[in-house]
Amino acid sequence: MSYRVTFIDPREQYRRLKDEIDFAITDTLAKGDLVLRQQLRDFEKNLAEFVGVKHAIGVNSGYHALYFSLLAAGIGPGSEVITVGHTFVATVSAIVHTGAKPVLVDVRDDYNMAPDKFDAAVTPNTKAVIPVHLNGRVCDMDAIMAVANKHGLAVIEDAAQALGATFRGKRAGSFGLTGCFSFYPFKSLGGLGDGGAVATDNPEIARFATLMRFNGEDRLTGEIQYHGYTALLDNVQAAVLDAKLRHLPSWIQHRRRIANLYREGLEGVEGLRLPHFSSDQYFDSYQNYVIRTEHRDELRQYLTEQGVESLVHWAKPMWEHKGLGLENPGLPETESICREVISLPMSAETTAEQVEITAGCIRDFFASRPMLQRITAAR
Ligand SMILES: Cc1ncc(COP(=O)(O)O)c(C=O)c1O
Repeated sequence: MSYRVTFIDPREQYRRLKDEIDFAITDTLAKGDLVLRQQLRDFEKNLAEFVGVKHAIGVNSGYHALYFSLLAAGIGPGSEVITVGHTFVATVSAIVHTGAKPVLVDVRDDYNMAPDKFDAAVTPNTKAVIPVHLNGRVCDMDAIMAVANKHGLAVIEDAAQALGATFRGKRAGSFGLTGCFSFYPFKSLGGLGDGGAVATDNPEIARFATLMRFNGEDRLTGEIQYHGYTALLDNVQAAVLDAKLRHLPSWIQHRRRIANLYREGLEGVEGLRLPHFSSDQYFDSYQNYVIRTEHRDELRQYLTEQGVESLVHWAKPMWEHKGLGLENPGLPETESICREVISLPMSAETTAEQVEITAGCIRDFFASRPMLQRITAAR
């Protein structure tokens, strides 16, 4: 169906950046620079500088950034790795593929890891933790680092949704042993297809990821050091991402303005929870604008009928996907989040008019159903 307000519009981003993107692609192709060339090195240098770390290694996905980080931290069979139940499945699959056991804990009402739940889940087998900075908000990294340090655990940040977000002035991906980023097309910094990066201050981990992404080969000596993977960030992709990275700070400011417009348009609607949490230590980048209501399914249906596109991240807890073979860890907050969340249109191209239409529809939905508000208020 065609929507009045689309969730995201990649055509509009391309229209706005056409000259820069076309140049990045054609210049790279004209030079024949397809694999492991200057464009990749430039992007890695600029990304590392942006994140505030010494090294960034381009890989072909956020998943591989996580997987290589876990391997670099020595995670394998017999290890337990703690992460949250409310995350994209790739976070957990990366743990499973190392042979380690994923231990899932619950989140706080800002959708990020609850540090006390993390602490309580540590066992003698725990070797690492993956805090996930969801929706463009960094976890409480003071508390998480304190727990991790107390138990001597490696911290691998899943920063796939939080490039540019900060906690106490430090950027996502710069707290732990590594920070893992995704450049999947709909991320704040989205590529032409899949892509990702490992950010780290540790030169040995940077070298490990550099070799693992290229079938284990040390390109200087030709020596193959590990059984690696075919997992490069392609050069054309890197050139385009580098061009887009220059716009990221202003795009994040735009996302924050859009979030504020949603807030103005939706504040006071009974039965609706908005994603504006304590902000004194946090600078949120609003990868997603997620609202919460017990009437999620009816609201989503209404928005669709009104021509407003929305998404749900995620409609059922991971362990209900039987093919994953995960035990139900009993996480009440994660379960109610799955029933209640809905993500509204949010991107660097989202306009004030689109917010007005979307917020107007949501207000109409609740106004035409006063019973819903009373039922919610009574609970
Ligand atoms: C929280 C989170 N972790 C990991 C990933 C995996 O990234 P990729 O899709 O680039 O493998 C994503 C991407 O969707 C994500 O949102």
